[in-house]
Amino acid sequence: MHLLIPAAGSGRRMGSSRNKLLLPLLGQSVIAWTLRAAQAAASIEWIGIIGQPHDWQDFKQIVAELGLEGKVQFIQGGATRQASVYCGLQGLPADAKHVLIHDGARCLATPDLFERCGAMLEVCKGLIAAVPVKDTIKIVDPATQIIEQTPDRSNLWAAQTPQGFDVETLRHCHQEGRRLGWEVTDDAALFEQCGLPVKIVMGEDTNLKVTTPVDLTIAEFILKYRAELLAESQNP
Ligand code: C5P
Repeated sequence: MHLLIPAAGSGRRMGSSRNKLLLPLLGQSVIAWTLRAAQAAASIEWIGIIGQPHDWQDFKQIVAELGLEGKVQFIQGGATRQASVYCGLQGLPADAKHVLIHDGARCLATPDLFERCGAMLEVCKGLIAAVPVKDTIKIVDPATQIIEQTPDRSNLWAAQTPQGFDVETLRHCHQEGRRLGWEVTDDAALFEQCGLPVKIVMGEDTNLKVTTPVDLTIAEFILKYRAELLAESQNP
């Protein structure tokens, strides 16, 4: 399995002057945690990190510390996530048939989630990890801040990554997106706009996307909790 990690963003919503993926989280960087989970998923044999040149040095050091040099390629990203994934698709090895795409900012995804998404790709051409929403969602008029609609919650899912695709089909969808000027925030949306089915794989409530400072605090808590569970299971 080939994995692309979009990691070419900034730290704007985090209030940071550097890439949020390089911020510390329980003694390591955010992206180191993401890479550790991918490293522990046995089916992933190649990882493309999509980044910006000013972060290369830091990324290379993290990859070296994890002993991942043999598995990782660096690919220059673009101005948006969509543009970055497009660049990543160009950087895939020629023999890549399936690809998982996983945001570097989702540093708590488990190896099991990667494996379940990879297995599902054997039987479909497009999938995303997602979880049923817990909140009631409102559609709001941005000008008046007045609610326009309350969609039926039982049909609503919150999209996560990994998202997985047949490489040739996703390349086609990205090209259509560029040609027709679609602007999307995930790859599934390009598949959908092309009229192609995208399957849901049950995601994880803990698979949060580190976006604002409070997310780092929550992520630290979850990682500590996991470490405690592991220690207990090893020394019952
Ligand atoms: O900003 P946000 O957290 O929604 O970005 C999702 C993922 O896309 C992050 O891992 C970020 O590094 C990546 N990204 C990218 N290229 C961009 C913007 C974001 O690879 N130009």
